[in-house]
Amino acid sequence: MNDKFSKIGFILAVAGSAVGLGNAWKFPTLVGTNGGSAFIILYLLLTFLVSFVIFLGEISIGKLSGKDPVNAYKMLAPKNAKFWSLAGFCIVGSVLIFSFYSVIMGWILKYCVSSVYYLPTTVDESGAVFSALLTSDLGVILFYYTVSVLLTFWIVSKGIVGGIERLNVWMMPALFIFLVIMLLFSFSMSGFSESAKFMLKPDFSALNKDSVLAALGLAFFTLSLGVGTIITYAASLPDKTDILKSSLSIVFINILIGVMMGLIVFTFIFEFGADPKEQGPGLVFISLATLFSKLGIVGNIFAVMFFVSLFFAALTSAVSMIEPSALYLINTFKMSRKKALSVILAFVYIMGVLCIFSYQATTSEYLTFFGKSFFDCVDYFTSNILMPISGILIAIFVGYIMNKSSLEELFIPYTGEIGFKIWYILLRTVAPLAVAIIMINQIFFS
Ligand code: ALA
Repeated sequence: MNDKFSKIGFILAVAGSAVGLGNAWKFPTLVGTNGGSAFIILYLLLTFLVSFVIFLGEISIGKLSGKDPVNAYKMLAPKNAKFWSLAGFCIVGSVLIFSFYSVIMGWILKYCVSSVYYLPTTVDESGAVFSALLTSDLGVILFYYTVSVLLTFWIVSKGIVGGIERLNVWMMPALFIFLVIMLLFSFSMSGFSESAKFMLKPDFSALNKDSVLAALGLAFFTLSLGVGTIITYAASLPDKTDILKSSLSIVFINILIGVMMGLIVFTFIFEFGADPKEQGPGLVFISLATLFSKLGIVGNIFAVMFFVSLFFAALTSAVSMIEPSALYLINTFKMSRKKALSVILAFVYIMGVLCIFSYQATTSEYLTFFGKSFFDCVDYFTSNILMPISGILIAIFVGYIMNKSSLEELFIPYTGEIGFKIWYILLRTVAPLAVAIIMINQIFFS
């Protein structure tokens, strides 16, 4: 029997899994470069037509089985159970994501510490510091990476209630409070109004085919779909939880935090005239780190608060990537939690070290495949191949294979009959087709 989350613990844990690095640098950049709130409207539309539909599919697999993804598919498939249990191996995706995610957590942790006493004053200096961390400061990055990995595993070792729920119940509100403080501070800067305009002013002419693909990809990644996380957390969903309301709250928190992060980041970008089109790591570790320095000691406080918030967001996602495989090993091989975690730790640690070496100047040439670093290959394989395939399988399994009356029993008390019908139709048609279209486009046409 699994531990069960409390109702609020479940919402915060799933929101914690959803809110992560995707919200911090993917969401703001995409909003800013694809027509502001026009992109947010598109993103919301795709979230509700596709990713939320699959999200509820994952919830139903987890809740109705009470098991890890592999055993859940096996238990719920009326026939061909062995074949369907293969779909449960999407849990490999979560440990693969963790392999590079934990390396980024190492970078963030390093910035939390160094921002206390040092901030680069020019973009060139900042770029050089970040590049040295990636390509030559092996001891430093290994140290912070190891701390991040061990911290994540230590939390997961405490179990669903004592570890994951407890972490999320204080870390998610803390993250929110930090963001509110930073937002209030940003509000007093002149860059704020430009930031708000950049993020929120709708410009539908900026939307194109790529915006649609990006919005759908983001809607998928930020809800941590297709890697077994939601199935696993839903296996510990307390009975009589209003599934619809909880799921909507999670989606709302995820979007709200993305918008808050974006407003903060772009206030600094506009205040000090940096390039708002800069993306991902460059935006956070190079541009922002330099901009904070312009505020003197206040900048150091701000930088520490910002990087700590980012670390919180990443850590609450990281724990959710380890739990699916841990539960699988515990259920299938009757391992103790400690033993299961040791096996996973050995695997992800090596994968993470390979990711680190793939950026180091002396070793990168041995760890480059198809023109991509090992780090980028793992990211590409999980985000563009494994997550979408698994998303399609979830839609097919829940929509065509699983017993319909169990689904009705689970959802109708909260969605009503019409709500259930709409969800069921979307799950059988629009959702898998849309995911297949993004996947094919991303692999062959981008
Ligand atoms: N959902 C997590 C994120 O957005 C993986 O970073």
